[in-house]
Amino acid sequence: TFQIGVPEKGLVLLVGTSGAGKSTFARRLFGPTQVVSSDTCRAMVADDENDLAATPDAFDLLHHLVGIRLRRGLLTVVDATNVQRTARASFIKVAKDNDVLVDAVVLDVPQEIAVERTLARDDRDFGAAVIRRQHADLQRSLKKLRKEGFRKVHHLRGVDAIDAATVRTER
Ligand code: CTP
Ligand code: MG
Repeated sequence: TFQIGVPEKGLVLLVGTSGAGKSTFARRLFGPTQVVSSDTCRAMVADDENDLAATPDAFDLLHHLVGIRLRRGLLTVVDATNVQRTARASFIKVAKDNDVLVDAVVLDVPQEIAVERTLARDDRDFGAAVIRRQHADLQRSLKKLRKEGFRKVHHLRGVDAIDAATVRTER
């Protein structure tokens, strides 16, 4: 098994394409109240889950929620794709503004697996092209991820590494 040490009262950013298994991973390793997701925030600000115009407001809510939890000293896990540098930078800023550390956990699965899993879901209506773009964004990000301000970058390569991972908090 591979044990991931995350900052006790800090922020954990999950990073991975749709279908990488972020929500499954978060559910297995963290408490339900520790995980905040872009999907949940979108559902709170839009009645139609395909309302793309709601995206800025959903992320506004997500950032606000993360900031409040970090200020209150609560370990917080962000369940969103975070494959773009600008998306990660906004969460890193929230962590810095609250004087807490932030780790990244990269769920790096083969593109075909992510596509296959996502196509099998009836609550996801986008196709392979979206995941291919996310996968390319992630691969491009990997080289520079360690210079973005994370305390640690935990890179889980492949489904087996993701399934075997455990978490402990570090002071
Ligand atoms: N899944 C699986 N085996 C795993 C992990 C996930 O079969 N080891 C399945 C899940 O049951 C789900 C799909 O793959 O049907 C996507 O997993 P999920 O954790 O929901 O992926 P996310 O990364 O959260 O995808 P999204 O960004 O679209 O929310
Ligand atoms: Mg998910």
